[in-house]
Amino acid sequence: MGIAVSPEIHPQVAEFIDKPRPMLINGKWVQAASGKTFPTYNPATGEVLAKIAEGDREDIERAVRAASKAFEGPWSRMTASERGRLMWKLADLIDAHNEEFGYLESLDNGKPLTIAKAADVPLASELFRYMAGWATKLEGNTIPLSVPYTPGAQYLAYTLREPVGVVGQIIPWNFPLLMAAWKLGPALATGCTVVLKPAEQTPLSALRLGELICEAGFSDGVVNIVTGYGETAGAALAAHPDVDKVAFTGSTEVGKLIVHAAAGNLKKVTLELGGKSPNVVFKDADLEVAIPGSASAIFFNHGQCCCAGSRLYVEKSIYDQVVEGVAAQAKKIRVGSGLDPKTQMGPLVSTEQLDRVCGYLEAGFAEGAKAVVGGHKAGDRGYFVEPTVLVDTTENMKVVKEEIFGPVVAAMPFSDPEEIIPRANDSTYGLAAAVWTKDIDKAHRMAAQLRAGTVWINCYNIFDAALPFGGYKQSGWGREMGHDVLNNYTQTKAVCARIG
Ligand code: NAI
Ligand code: MG
Repeated sequence: MGIAVSPEIHPQVAEFIDKPRPMLINGKWVQAASGKTFPTYNPATGEVLAKIAEGDREDIERAVRAASKAFEGPWSRMTASERGRLMWKLADLIDAHNEEFGYLESLDNGKPLTIAKAADVPLASELFRYMAGWATKLEGNTIPLSVPYTPGAQYLAYTLREPVGVVGQIIPWNFPLLMAAWKLGPALATGCTVVLKPAEQTPLSALRLGELICEAGFSDGVVNIVTGYGETAGAALAAHPDVDKVAFTGSTEVGKLIVHAAAGNLKKVTLELGGKSPNVVFKDADLEVAIPGSASAIFFNHGQCCCAGSRLYVEKSIYDQVVEGVAAQAKKIRVGSGLDPKTQMGPLVSTEQLDRVCGYLEAGFAEGAKAVVGGHKAGDRGYFVEPTVLVDTTENMKVVKEEIFGPVVAAMPFSDPEEIIPRANDSTYGLAAAVWTKDIDKAHRMAAQLRAGTVWINCYNIFDAALPFGGYKQSGWGREMGHDVLNNYTQTKAVCARIG
């Protein structure tokens, strides 16, 4: 079944996708309780790539039970050093299977194999290594007390940082393996147990990661992976009364549903949601860097990045030059199947995303936007869209206000550096922003005033396991990565002893 397995496909990958993939519950690979499966597609061809177990409420139930048992059992008795070592081992296993993960990501998501191998996979292994180091460094404090109503008494007071418990993690399809790593890393470092629900569009790499988790030697039930749809498996996980925390990455719309679902047992919630990030180019920028940087800010991962630089603001005197430059970059991008080593941009992930992006393009044209390059679907099969630069756009247009999540940037001129801050901040989102200038005072003044969780200066899309990432406003709650993320997975216990 599946696509015709061409000789270029990595043999282990061909074998992996050849039979219906089961999911991981309590250390065992099992089919869904209902026996159902669902298809995942190859976005370069639109053909079915593999069949996956379709988990639902009952499978979530079993997985949560396994995670609860593991949390109380061997996992909680393991030392922090042992947890860290397992994570380091997992990181090494991921690197050892770089090629295989590259193929899985490329086939399932559509992204270029070369990029998956150079970025997604090593970023995932590095995340586990960085978080492995934190396992042994989660410390509380000792706290001097001065209780006024017990004069003369002495106390020893200290805090413990404890894992929150069973965590539900729901991830999207734009960086399937990396999003799994961002979520699992801090949970495992802090001693939580997990039920992970990958996106239905791209479940393959998480399932392969599950096999490596077993191979590394994590105890049964520490990581459970339930594949299935959001409305069923995802919703059941978000609402489950024995889940202590839910971490979600995806659309702002579903983020709000997660908050409602979490209200039943008031589980802790962190959210990493959408964006409409402003990318601001000043006339004193080094355009040799700013032009390709602004192109890659939007076109990287086909624009399917929550932090994509989708609103390009350019100072008037250089506006034409920058727009032409970004358009020239767009024209040069080789669009094609992710498996072709020459491909720089693959297809969008799904037919839904293709329709959504094309719908935005039509809405933009209807409102008066013009495409200086691109503007259409590309190819006669698969979910390809041309890299697109829109001009004649204004802030009230749908293409400027809403997240498109495709390779489409709206360019707009500005004349006064003072005017740009309110325009850049005029968004319900606040995930990322960038400024391009050689004036360091201006760069840091802008960084202070932009209402965004990340501000890049003379660069874009720079990610590191040590650097916190997350949103202001409706872009989310909490931060991923860095030591910030550990707060999401731990809770503080105050211990107070009378000692005299
Ligand atoms: P989505 O938010 O529906 O999907 C993300 C994850 O949530 C998937 O695992 C999905 O199965 C799950 N999910 C869906 N409905 C759920 C529910 N009711 N309860 C629990 N889990 C649920 O995103 P979708 O539909 O794939 O993409 C739509 C738009 O969302 C994109 O066009 C883009 O604008 C945005 N998006 C943002 C991402 C980000 O990185 N912040 C990633 C993916 C999408
Ligand atoms: Mg959806």
